[in-house]
Amino acid sequence: MSKRHDIIEILSVDSEFGIGKKNGLLFHLPKDMAFFRATTLNHVVAMGENTLLSFPGSKPLKSRTNIVLSQDKTHNYKNVLNVHTLDQFFRLIDSILQKEDVFIIGGASIYRQLLPYSNKVLLTKVHANGGAEVFFPNIDENPNFRCISKQPPIMDEGSIEIEFTTYANDGAVPLRYEKARGKTVEMNLCDGPFQAIKEGFKDIEMRLFDEKRADLEVGDVIIFTNLATGEKLSRTVIALAPFDSFETLYAAFPKSRLGYRDDEVASPKDMEQYYPAEKIAKYGPLAIFLE
Ligand SMILES: NC(=O)c1ccc[n+]([C@@H]2O[C@H](COP(=O)([O-])OP(=O)(O)OC[C@H]3O[C@@H](n4cnc5c(N)ncnc54)[C@H](OP(=O)(O)O)[C@@H]3O)[C@@H](O)[C@H]2O)c1
Repeated sequence: MSKRHDIIEILSVDSEFGIGKKNGLLFHLPKDMAFFRATTLNHVVAMGENTLLSFPGSKPLKSRTNIVLSQDKTHNYKNVLNVHTLDQFFRLIDSILQKEDVFIIGGASIYRQLLPYSNKVLLTKVHANGGAEVFFPNIDENPNFRCISKQPPIMDEGSIEIEFTTYANDGAVPLRYEKARGKTVEMNLCDGPFQAIKEGFKDIEMRLFDEKRADLEVGDVIIFTNLATGEKLSRTVIALAPFDSFETLYAAFPKSRLGYRDDEVASPKDMEQYYPAEKIAKYGPLAIFLE
């Protein structure tokens, strides 16, 4: 199992290593927010269900690929990659880490579980006590973690002093996960997308989230049959993401991941050759992420 990029936890803690109360943040800190936004924009962010629900309108963060970990496998949030166990989460991010970093953005339970696997922690230390209900482990007392940078404290809103620090984990534990053991599902494909999966650049299959896909789960193995040649190939499902529309889905990922070659123009309208507009409106698209 290779890992080239980093798992990075990013958060702010108060003087007691508190991070939240009443499923919200402890302080309003525009400078820290701006740092969070600049650091994570156009990257992959991963969070627990409570953190997603704590965002305005329970909507995922814009201009980022959002992964949400929830225990209940019927909870498949829109416009996010849904996974339901740590094992599924590790399989998904192991695949992402071949190409890019993954930012862990909370909350308390997710930070704690993923800390041993994280390579870095971007920790904003807030010099005040926010009366927290949920906490982050005190990494100054963890021998694996080393503070590698510390900026001079600055003043944020409400005369609250904050300090940007970075910690490296010298004992990061490699990701381990079980082989997927889902059911086997059959799907037909035209020659173009079939070859794109086979060549390795298409890793998102797009279908409608209709009755046929209702029981599709992370860990299932899809056997694709090439309608032109009868050839078959199999891929494991590593995440499921229902989208509002094909427009949103197409805007969220590079066209190659959807199966388009460099010289091809990608348009969400292309999906109308497979599905009538009224069915698209009724069910909405499902992005199926393939290992
Ligand atoms: N200070 C900061 O920088 C910062 C950043 C982000 C969030 N926060 C704060 O953190 C708090 C939220 O933290 P939290 O711990 O309550 O929530 P959380 O970590 O965001 O989410 C917990 C959810 O994730 C699910 N989950 C956890 N581990 C799982 C696993 N291994 N497999 C599958 N599902 C799993 C839990 O399911 P079950 O409930 O079913 O177990 C639960 O639904 C809020 O106050 C928020 O504002 C602070």
